[in-house]
Formats: sequence, C-alpha cells, structure tokens
Amino acid sequence: MAERSSTGGFDPTGIDEEEWQILELQLEQTIPHYDKVNAWMTFGQDKHWRKNVRNHTIEGMKVLEVGCGPGSFAVDIVGVELTCLDPSDEMLQVARHRVGEARKNRGESEATFVQAVAESMPFDDNTFDFVCCLFSFRDFKDKKQGLTEILRVMRPGGKLVICDAGKANWLHGLFGSLWMNTAVQLIARVVTKEKNHAWKGLAKSYTHYGTNGFYRRMLKEVGFTQVQGRLLLPFGMASRFRATKPKGNTAN
Ligand SMILES: C[S@@+](CC[C@H](N)C(=O)[O-])C[C@H]1O[C@@H](n2cnc3c(N)ncnc32)[C@H](O)[C@@H]1O
Repeated sequence: MAERSSTGGFDPTGIDEEEWQILELQLEQTIPHYDKVNAWMTFGQDKHWRKNVRNHTIEGMKVLEVGCGPGSFAVDIVGVELTCLDPSDEMLQVARHRVGEARKNRGESEATFVQAVAESMPFDDNTFDFVCCLFSFRDFKDKKQGLTEILRVMRPGGKLVICDAGKANWLHGLFGSLWMNTAVQLIARVVTKEKNHAWKGLAKSYTHYGTNGFYRRMLKEVGFTQVQGRLLLPFGMASRFRATKPKGNTAN
C-alpha cells in the first residue's frame, strides 16, 4: 500500500488502489440486498433523495450517471438520453438488465452502459448536459481527478449533482460513524441473514469521507461555479452538492 497507509488506505481525497479493489468487491457483494439495506438505513429517505436528483433533469437532456451501481437511480429516470458508467462489470450487468427492461416497457430509447472509472472516462469534452453521482462519489479512487474529468465531459452551462453521505464536521462525523458501525451493521445482518456481510467494510469508507465544506472547496478548486452543498434530513445523514460548468469553459 502506498502513501495513504497511515489512514488505512483511505483519506478524504481518495482511496489507495489496493483498498479500492477490496471496496469494489464489497460493493459487488451488496448487490442482492443493496436497495433494501439502503432503504432501512436511511429511514426510507434514499428514494426521495434520488427523486430530487431526477427532478433536476429536463426532457431530452444528455445525462450521465457516474457510478450507477445496480441501477437504483437510473431505473426511474425518464425522458432523457441516458449513459450509465461504472467500473464493475457485475454492477453493469444488473443495471443493464434492470434499466433496459424499465426503459423498454416505457417505450424509451436504450440507455448506454460504459465500464470505466470516473477518473478516466471515454467521452469527448463538452458532451453531457447533466451529470450525477448517487452514493458513488465516496468510492472514487481520486476525488479531485474524478471531478476534473466530470467537468471535462460536461457541456458549458451543464449541471452536476452529487448525493452522498453527509458530514458537517468531525462531531457530526463521529455520530455518523457510530450509526454506520452499529445500527447499519445490525440492519445489514437482519436483511442479509449473514454474519459476515459486506457492510462491515463499507463503514470504513464513511469514516474516511470528508466534510461538506471540504468537498465544496474541492468543487470550486476544480473549476465549478455556483457550488452549493447542503445536508439533508433526517440528521444530515446525506448531503447534496450542486455545481455548474462555467459557460465560457469549452476545453479542459
Ligand atoms: C453504492 S453504489 C451506488 C449505486 C447507485 N448509484 C445508487 O443510486 O445507489 C457505488 C458505485 O460506485 C462505483 N464506483 C466505485 N468507484 C468508482 C469510480 N472510481 N468511478 C466511478 N464509479 C465508481 C461502484 O462500482 C458502485 O457500483
């Protein structure tokens, strides 16, 4: 393990390759129970948070979801030209089937599925009107590089919305870690009926996640404007960032 070994492979700016590979395996293990555990651990709020992000889109937009996972967000987005990106082949297989069926039943065009990481995306500059990351930003290997790459593929004036864990400050983060390490572990155990479920490892990515202010600053440093970041109810357990690619920015 490289330079971040003193933080167990994670720090607020990113995750070591070795730790990230472990995290990916753990995320893949969550697939069968992912939506159910999420619903329980957020008191059912996750679906409202996802709906809120969908409400930022306008019909006909070119939309990119970075870190689509098993398609929990992408399945319900309508009226847009959709691209779903994820590094995990297993996640993409589930998303392709789930999102594909839903879009076919609604008579919509097929979505595009791309296997890649946020830090290096196979898209042209200035491509997407709207980019979103739902509970995936926390898992980026290099968050600044991921945001830089997102800015590059967005068209000038395009919008980014990120929804992820919420952390106001270290004290709030302490309560969050307590929640992740106790109640969430219990919920995951009951839902999965397994003692050694994947959520054991996932608590670590929350512990090392930065504060709201930290990522607001990072978004501005990378070049986004109109940066907003707020904690969501209940208890600020999630956060939502909104940012815009400046109109004059046509190349990165
Ligand atoms: C918790 S799932 C999110 C699923 C979905 N977006 C949702 O609405 O719940 C996180 C996803 O982020 C993906 N991910 C991890 N590292 C990533 C990276 N560097 N770039 C893009 N996606 C990444 C994982 O493979 C995983 O599928």
